[in-house]
Amino acid sequence: MSLHNDNALVVALDTSTDMLACAASWIDVQTGEAKLVSGDHLCRRHANVELVNTVDGVLKQAGLDRSDVGCYVVGRGPGSFTGVRIGISTAKGLACGANVPLLGVSTLDACAWTVWKAGVRGKLGVLADAMRGEVYPALYVLGDEGPERLFERERVVKAAVALDEWRQTAGWDQVQLTGDGLVRYGKLLGEDETARCVEQDLWWPSGEGLLMAHAAGDGDPARVLPIYTRLSDAEENERKRLGLAGSAQSEVTGVADELAGRHLQFRPMGAADAEGASALETACFEGAGHEAWTPSMFLSELGEGVAAPRSWWVAHDDGQLLGLAGGMVVDGDVQIMDVAVDSAHRREGIARKLLSHVSYDAQMLGCTTASLEVEDGNEGAIALYAVLGFTEAGRRRGYYGAGKDAIVMTAPLPLVLPLDNASPEPTAAEQRVWPLPAPGRTVEERAEIEHRRLVLAIESSCDETAVAIIDADGNMLANQVSTQIDFHARFGGVVPEIASRKHVEVIVSVVDAALEDAAASLGLTGGAIAPSELAAVGVTQGPGLVGALVVGVAFAKGFAYAAGKPLVCVNHLEGHLFANLLAQPDLKPPFIFTLVSGGHTMLVHVKAWGDYEVLGETLDDAVGEAFDKVAKALGLGYPGGPIISKLAETGNPKAIDFPRALNSRGDYRFSLSGLKTAVTLYIEQETKAGRTIHLPDLAASFEAAVFDVQYKKAKNALHATGCKEYCIGGGVSANPHLREMMIKKLGRQGIRVTVPPLSACTDNAAMIAEVARRKFDRGEISPFDVDADPNMTL
Ligand code: KG4
Ligand code: ZN
Repeated sequence: MSLHNDNALVVALDTSTDMLACAASWIDVQTGEAKLVSGDHLCRRHANVELVNTVDGVLKQAGLDRSDVGCYVVGRGPGSFTGVRIGISTAKGLACGANVPLLGVSTLDACAWTVWKAGVRGKLGVLADAMRGEVYPALYVLGDEGPERLFERERVVKAAVALDEWRQTAGWDQVQLTGDGLVRYGKLLGEDETARCVEQDLWWPSGEGLLMAHAAGDGDPARVLPIYTRLSDAEENERKRLGLAGSAQSEVTGVADELAGRHLQFRPMGAADAEGASALETACFEGAGHEAWTPSMFLSELGEGVAAPRSWWVAHDDGQLLGLAGGMVVDGDVQIMDVAVDSAHRREGIARKLLSHVSYDAQMLGCTTASLEVEDGNEGAIALYAVLGFTEAGRRRGYYGAGKDAIVMTAPLPLVLPLDNASPEPTAAEQRVWPLPAPGRTVEERAEIEHRRLVLAIESSCDETAVAIIDADGNMLANQVSTQIDFHARFGGVVPEIASRKHVEVIVSVVDAALEDAAASLGLTGGAIAPSELAAVGVTQGPGLVGALVVGVAFAKGFAYAAGKPLVCVNHLEGHLFANLLAQPDLKPPFIFTLVSGGHTMLVHVKAWGDYEVLGETLDDAVGEAFDKVAKALGLGYPGGPIISKLAETGNPKAIDFPRALNSRGDYRFSLSGLKTAVTLYIEQETKAGRTIHLPDLAASFEAAVFDVQYKKAKNALHATGCKEYCIGGGVSANPHLREMMIKKLGRQGIRVTVPPLSACTDNAAMIAEVARRKFDRGEISPFDVDADPNMTL
């Protein structure tokens, strides 16, 4: 069957709850009849395994093909964070792979429509399970036309609190109840309330409910994001701490700032900032018709008692406040209450970054828009807000005094934040026309693209979202990395929940950028490479953070399936090994390989490609982890590797004699916790004795202790196996001293030493593409029911 009507076939999916909801609807061209096929089924924690095949099954049952789909609809939650991300990432992949619109739907709305479809009318309360004793409560009126919301913003509250609130509402004794929260919290209901629960079959969102709910958006998959109702635990805790404490101490930001010589840092406003914030405010608005905020006004914003959630951020440099911005969450809108930047630091992108943080928090709290007021005639501010996506929504006459009008501006969230030097972190995509126009190609160009057998590879195992495109001969045509370091740095390490959220936010933009780069590398002028022009899709399957891996894997599966391309799963550790092939294409086993990254430390005998004997691993910390912990102990920020190696440049490696663990011949195991303890003890002792620590000497001596052991064990393994080749990989192999030492010392013994290009040491997709290209060549294809594997080994 073929569809003549463009957008006739719509496929909806949702994995926010234990229900894998999936349905397809279309209009039969012959009869004009509306048709529906559903694949809804309960599926606990297996959504990533079953989702793509369920979509495929539904299409097959409908007698339709994946190329017939004109639009995808996805449930955006709220629900299980990972569940929501699996559905959204898969849907983004499907829509990008097919180049069709993706629309988002609130899962709570879908629940209401599911019940409406079953014929229920009147008031309905949806009690959706939010885990940890909490629910997402949502009240509706089900009229003849469909459900109507009696709330603005999805939110999360304790189950008992939600019920108590509801019991106060008029007509409660008529409200019928649904939602998967009833499974766990049904016991909190009174008898008459239990009697008002709808049939249990209707407690979960159905695919049909999703299709009926009002889908929103411009169709661009880049802009469809989960509905969250709270910040990550790490952020919540930090906020509480800052709001109470007298100190505004917070970790310094990432190495990117440090190395660029910038000290500007951002963090949520703390109680200790109140005085400084008020002073900055007063200085900024001197002479304006605006009452400056007093310290106690700021303090009352930060307390726990505020009725509507707030988000306040400051920009600071060595303790001096340079800027602040704050907003208040009112229903689904964040009302920006204040933006102030030190006059000596205007035009540095500070206001924009502050607003991006405030609006990001608001989005995590369920907001979909931002609004603010600006004085008519303040062209600088109006221009700044316009760049972020704000447009004029109205005017308040005389708001700033006689004849001084306020312009009310609103913007959809996420704000438009172009990637540039002022904001190197991943941000939301710019608005664009979607679907993309089909690329214009000549016959020769088409043949050339096909001949090249392009493989697109995705890496999302930790805090980098990376995409590369490689051709059959190993030419790297695109190599995009979007790093989240700035978002994790103030916590002193990667926060898994933040990492997962960021991957979902940027994955489409990073894929798009890679597709554009590849077209440019090939000299094509007719548009970016289309998914249909690829030969295969590769993705990191593991090891790594499970919630981060899942985003890449789900997206890759949807993308490959919709584009009709084979899927190739890659082991991240093999990627670090293959990074050496990017520097030395004729590297051939047998050889010895050292892997030193943030999560792994191992010495490997590579007997043949794919035949790995792990000679030894670390018993405790990984080498990169030890660098990070030492840097943290010194208050140097995250990640530690680059900072320590920079400091070590001018230090004396013999200054301090740190221990070398498990140093006997034939023992290939590593242990770094003893060294870490020795360094911490040293810092404590020196500080107690009132001596200042010579950081370069400490860094150089620490490096020497780590690298001596690495060298000796590698040398012993080379001798024992008779291998004449050696290579290294992982984030720590970016360390210049380690590279130099191995090249010089092993080189002197007649060993050929290969080190990866610097850009391919820390996590990247080029190395994943190199593995994927070879696996694809050998026909090692993965089925669409693979899942991320956080514990994969070599
Ligand atoms: O391979 P990678 O990017 O991520 C994992 O797969 O774990 O490695 C990140 C690790 C971090 O611990 C970081 O501190 C370390 O690599 N690193 C370095 C250097 N650059 C990054 N360690 C020492 N010296 C460096 N120059
Ligand atoms: Zn890695």
